[in-house]
Order: sequence, then C-alpha cells, then structure tokens
Amino acid sequence: MQIDVLGTGWNDEYTSVLMLPSDQKRVDTLWMSEAGVVDAFFFVGPGPKDVVMQYTSVTGTPAMPQLFAIAYHQCRWNYRDEEDVYNVDAKFDEHDIPYDVLWLDIDHTDGRKYFTWDRLLFPNPEEMQKKLAAKGRHMVAIVDPHIKRDESYFIHKEASQKGYYVKDATGKDFDGWCWSGSSSYLDVLNPEIRSWWAEKFSYENYIGSTPSLYIWNDMNEPSVFNGPEVSMPRDALHQDDVEHRDLHNAYGYYIHMATSDGLVKRGDGKDRPFVLSRAFFPGSQRYGAIWTGDNSAEWDHLRVSVPMVLTLGLTGISFSGADVGGFFGNSDTELLVRWYQVGAYYPFFRAHAHQDTRRREPWLFGERNTQLMRESIHTRYMFLPYFYTLFREANMTGVPVVRPLWMEFPDDEQTFSNDEAFMVGNSLLVQGIYTEKAKHVSVYLPGDQSWYDIRTGTAYGGGVIHKLEASEDSVPAFQRAGTIVPRKDRFRRSSTQMENDPYTLVIALNSSQAAEGWLYVDDGKSFEFLQGAYIHRHFTYSDGKLKSSNLASTGVRSKKFASECIVERIILLGFSPGPKKALIEPVNEKVDIEPGPLLLRGGWSSSVLTIRKPNVRIADDWTIKIL
Ligand code: NOJ
Repeated sequence: MQIDVLGTGWNDEYTSVLMLPSDQKRVDTLWMSEAGVVDAFFFVGPGPKDVVMQYTSVTGTPAMPQLFAIAYHQCRWNYRDEEDVYNVDAKFDEHDIPYDVLWLDIDHTDGRKYFTWDRLLFPNPEEMQKKLAAKGRHMVAIVDPHIKRDESYFIHKEASQKGYYVKDATGKDFDGWCWSGSSSYLDVLNPEIRSWWAEKFSYENYIGSTPSLYIWNDMNEPSVFNGPEVSMPRDALHQDDVEHRDLHNAYGYYIHMATSDGLVKRGDGKDRPFVLSRAFFPGSQRYGAIWTGDNSAEWDHLRVSVPMVLTLGLTGISFSGADVGGFFGNSDTELLVRWYQVGAYYPFFRAHAHQDTRRREPWLFGERNTQLMRESIHTRYMFLPYFYTLFREANMTGVPVVRPLWMEFPDDEQTFSNDEAFMVGNSLLVQGIYTEKAKHVSVYLPGDQSWYDIRTGTAYGGGVIHKLEASEDSVPAFQRAGTIVPRKDRFRRSSTQMENDPYTLVIALNSSQAAEGWLYVDDGKSFEFLQGAYIHRHFTYSDGKLKSSNLASTGVRSKKFASECIVERIILLGFSPGPKKALIEPVNEKVDIEPGPLLLRGGWSSSVLTIRKPNVRIADDWTIKIL
C-alpha cells in the first residue's frame, strides 16, 4: 500500500510513505522524499481524539466558520446570468426549501479573468448580491490562481510588471494552459505577493463585490492542463530559486491562506472569511473549507465520499464535503435523493454539477422527490445548533465534526473497518444507503447503550447489527443514549433568518437515567467570540433534573454576547414510566409533559414525551425537575 502523506489527491508523489505491515504487532515503513527533506512528527495518543488534538496543536485547529457557511449551498457550473440566479433563488422560496449560498462558477467572469464580471450576463452584480442578502443569503464567486496572459487584464499587467509570477527553468514567466487559456501563476511562496493578492479582495479592487460575497479557490494544485502530470513542471522556479518540486503540495495552501486573509482584511475586517479550496496541505484547516473534487453521479462515489470526508477530518480538516449529486454525469433521481440524505450530514453541504449535466435543482424531479430533498435539507437546518457547537469544539480542540465510529468507540473492534456509517459529534450516528432500490440496510450500533431512531424515537440495543427496512424517507440516523442534542425546528429561508428562533432540546437517557450535551452560540459572523462574546452551555440530566450551566468565561474584560432565545420544547427519550409534569426553577412554574412527535413532520411514538413551552432562556442558568 502506498500512502501519499502530503498529497493533494491530484498528482503528487513528491513525498511518499510506503506502509509494509508484516504482522499484527509491527508495521515497517519506507520514506521517500523527492526534495530530500522530510519533516516527521509522531503523535502518540493514546486515544484517537488525542492524536488529532496533538496533530492540530502543531498544524492549527480549524477556523470557526460563519453560521451561514455550515448551512446548505447551491452550486452549478454555471448559473448563467442574473435572471438564472433570481429564478433559482425564487424557486427555493416557492418550494419552501431553505438555502444559504448561491455559487457562481468560472463563466460569470469576463473571459475567465477572475475578479471581473461578464457585464452582459451580470450587469448589476452588487444589486444581485444585495437582493439575496435581504433574505439573509450569500453568494460565492470563483477566483482561481491561474492568471490570463492578457495585456488588458489589470491583474496580469500588474503581476507581470512586478515580477510576481513563478518562472520556468529558463527564468521566463511560466506560461501554462488552464481555463483562461494561456496563463501565468503567482508565486505565492512570497509573502509580499500573498499580501498583494489579499488586497485584490478589497471592495475597491474587486469591483462588483459586496460584503455578502465569498470566495472559491479551484485549480490550485496548481492545475496546468498542458503541464507534466497536469501540473507545473517540477523545475519551475519560485522566489530565491526554490524549485516547484520542493513546495508543490503547499501551493494551494498558500493561495487559500492569501485569499482568506484578503476576506478578513476587506471592509472593516470584522467578519470571518469563507473560502473553499480544492488543494490543501497540513494547516489548510485554518483557512476554510475543502471539497473532495470532481466525483461522478455514481453510487460508489456516494459511498466513497464518507471515508474521504472522515479521513480529511482525521487530518485536522474538519470542514469538508463532496459534491452532492456527483459532479460528472446525470444523477438518477434515487441516487440524488440518497445523496442529499447523506450529504445533509457532511460538514460542508453543497450540491454541485458539471456544465454538461442536466439541471438538477431539488424541485425538478416531481413533488415526492422534492419533498424528500426538502426534508434532508430541513434536517440539516434543524441540527444547525448542534453542528455549530461541534464546529466550535473542532475550533478549540481539533476533534472533527464528523468522526469514524472508532473515534467514539475505540475499544470496539467491530467499528474499525466500518466506514459506511459515521458519527456526527459524539451523539448522532448516521448510516448511509449506497445501493439502488435497497430494501434493507444493516446498521451496526456500537457501545453498550441504546440508540434512538431520530425520526421515531424507537430504541435499539447497542453492540448489535440491526437489519432494518430501508425507508425512502431518510437514511437511518440515531441519537446515542446518554446525550442531549440542541435543535431549531422552525424553518426559514436561510440560517441567518433563524437567529432569534427558539430551541428544542432532545434528551436521550442512558440506563443510569442520565444524559449530557452542549450548546455553543455566538453572533455567527464576527471575531468577537475570541474576546468572550459567546454563550456556551452544558446541559446535564441526572437524578430527575435537567440543568443548564454556564461554560463561558465570565471575566470582566470579556465581551458579552446577548441572546433572548428560549427553549420552546424539550423532547424526552427513554423515560419510563411516563412522567406527567415538570417544575421549572428558579421561576417555580409547573408545565405539562405530553406524548409528542419527535420531528415536526416526522414519526410519532408513544415512547416520545414532550415538555411544551418550558420557555427558559438559553443564556440563563435553570433547572427543570421531572415530577
Ligand atoms: C474544476 C472543479 O473541480 C469544478 O468543481 C468546477 O466546476 C470546474 N473546475 C469549473 O470551474
């Protein structure tokens, strides 16, 4: 087996480690580095989470994204013009499907000169962004690092005059072929060139951009269509005559870094950046999200997306996802729906498609399929408070948002080779369905505690493989007994419009009649959380009492984040015999406990109980006694 330790997944054998397992106790390795330089760090654990924490203490923990960035993204190569954008945007509303971001691929530009607009197709880009922003929505435009060699293009003119391009072996500006035709590539190894690039994202320089526009860096391996191995020749020269072979794998990382810096610096510099990158390197997690590149609309590509995302998470890159629906080819409807059902749990949830594919927005496949895709997207929006809390955990510790089962159950050997199911945080287990017309699905539920079906509340035993009927409605997903998951159950047009909505807490008791969970909230946008402007709660249930206590720092100098949000519903799983009343302290008010649905439009089970309108504020300390 050959493992490419520093690979970008494209064409990299610049540093390789050959793993030669000889027996169960011993693994030999063979290290090869073309540049003759190997930096190796060994992280000793002992647990899998310890290893990731140790690794991210060296390479950095993932940046905290804005809230909108972890909601649903709608992309396609290409949304053709402003009318297309407005139509797609309106259809989401018409079909009651939330989304947060509409993406523009390379053909929104004037001749694939990035930072420009094709003014025939996009005459009023600012107005377009503002109209979407009025619904709390954002846009992303692509900016690739290959620069069109066109004398009338301001970026090229300046870069060539300043000598900012990578040189070929003879010392001339390297000239390669990419989307823009004959192109040159910035030498982003040089910090001065990175600052210059970052400046290009200021509103003055990037004409037509507004504060709701974010960026996509593609082809940053760098991709060179006519180059050896579809990349830059290894003897191309960077600053101080450093050969490309010595930093190839970091090229995309530097572009990502400079772009992300540019978004931080533009305007008043208050907002967290969002930049999606295709190429990455250890540490890329500090600059934004990654997607798994050009997949195809095939069942096996849906299947492999899960181990790919899990592996990225283990390398510190928690914010990742695969193109939902598959980039190449026309997805059949069942595959598309199943992809939404799994993709709704990817940390980065974006549908994307090649320009040669048929249109596949969620309303194009008949009402039943629209409903199924809508429900998948609703599920993601419902769990946004939980996801956001997990993103903050990743930001603080490096522990990824989605995890292989063995990261949560390291002593359970049955989990070791299972990469068809995964954990979202420590509380939810999701099992994908990866075959056409599946009648049944086998799910291994680890541990010695129960698991509750998130739709019906039905309890399943742990440590057992369950053969379940495959439902068209959703892929199987379970909440682990002993956990408390925060949700928001009211659906709006976008995540930003849910800001003041009330919460639902779902408490799943374990056999000791106990559970715990967390909720992290901040303004979803700025860096003020770094100065203490956030709410961080710890929910515990034991001895018949649910308690909310503060985890945030209370230092006098820390900034405060205020929220009037309340808990409108508490769902109880695993409570028997069914209690009838709850007492809310400190206000000393009694409220009813009723049998209730687990999901708003979902299953009903008599074992699910609901405390309606406890109306406690999430920012406060409180206790609720189950009577
Ligand atoms: C290749 C990227 O992987 C794909 O997502 C994108 O649509 C095309 N380049 C065009 O920009």
